[in-house]
Amino acid sequence: MLYGTLGNGLQVPLVGLGTYKIPNEEMHSVLEKAFECGYRKIDTARYYKNEEAIGKAISEIGIPRNELFITTKMDVESLYKSISFLGHKRKLPIRKQSLRSALFQQLERLHTDYVDMYLLHAAIPKYYEYWGKEVKILYNEGYVKSFGVCHFNKSDFELYETELKELPMINQIEISPFNTNKEIISYCDGKGVRLEAFATFGTTKKNPVAATELLENEIITVIAKKYGKTPSQVILRWVIEQGISVVPKARSEKHLLENIDIFDFELSAEEMQSIDTLNKDNKWRYFR
Ligand SMILES: NC(=O)c1ccc[n+]([C@@H]2O[C@H](COP(=O)([O-])OP(=O)(O)OC[C@H]3O[C@@H](n4cnc5c(N)ncnc54)[C@H](OP(=O)(O)O)[C@@H]3O)[C@@H](O)[C@H]2O)c1
Repeated sequence: MLYGTLGNGLQVPLVGLGTYKIPNEEMHSVLEKAFECGYRKIDTARYYKNEEAIGKAISEIGIPRNELFITTKMDVESLYKSISFLGHKRKLPIRKQSLRSALFQQLERLHTDYVDMYLLHAAIPKYYEYWGKEVKILYNEGYVKSFGVCHFNKSDFELYETELKELPMINQIEISPFNTNKEIISYCDGKGVRLEAFATFGTTKKNPVAATELLENEIITVIAKKYGKTPSQVILRWVIEQGISVVPKARSEKHLLENIDIFDFELSAEEMQSIDTLNKDNKWRYFR
């Protein structure tokens, strides 16, 4: 397994397992297969309602905690409730739970006393300041080994930097050949913010299965044939060759094996560029 390095020196496995929509009753068997295939990084979130199943499976399987890299996320907006104030229509957001107590519940569910990466799940500007201040305290206390955000574009980073006087370490965003997201990749590269990709197979929130149109695309299939690889392996390789880590979700042994077996070939600059030409800004904004 190859690693990328965060601004604080932490090593991040380039390929991890996305777990959204893996049924809880399958979690033990999927994680067991994943660990056998060599995965050590798991991507989850409070919102996925699978942290408990993941924590239980990890304990039962018995992988030492220090060999694992666990990412979880917090939908900070759910820590707040809105109340009408003074009878006006305007709503006042009142915090009903602290990030600290929410994280502690997540740690308990995950059967661990720290997470390797903690991400702000939704890019909602009014919560950046609270998240940024609180996560930094949890980071300094060692409960969180690195922290970052999801779905951030340039204006989100500018606001975050103005409010927090620093930048998050990682930005998890959609990246696929149909949605190359070059502008934000170049912005993050320039600012030293690492990127992590999801929906690499052209999935969308409405349709969370790999897009046949992408996996059967001629440019991708010709390259795959040349290297004796599958289209999905070519797509994942195209992502990691940009210095970006990935968290493909997979349930079957075939997919799990394929997605991690991408370190024995390399795409040429021309092949990388030809895949770039497939971009059609096919984004699905998850939380906006
Ligand atoms: N930060 C965020 O807001 C956010 C948003 C979305 C996702 N994520 C994270 O990113 C992870 C991955 O994203 P995603 O779930 O949107 O989609 P994805 O990983 O791009 O695609 C998953 C789909 O691709 C299929 N697949 C997996 N490997 C394959 C292969 N080798 N060949 C053909 N098909 C393959 C899966 O099938 P099977 O399941 O049948 O194997 C599933 O239908 C999520 O699970 C989650 O952890 C984060």
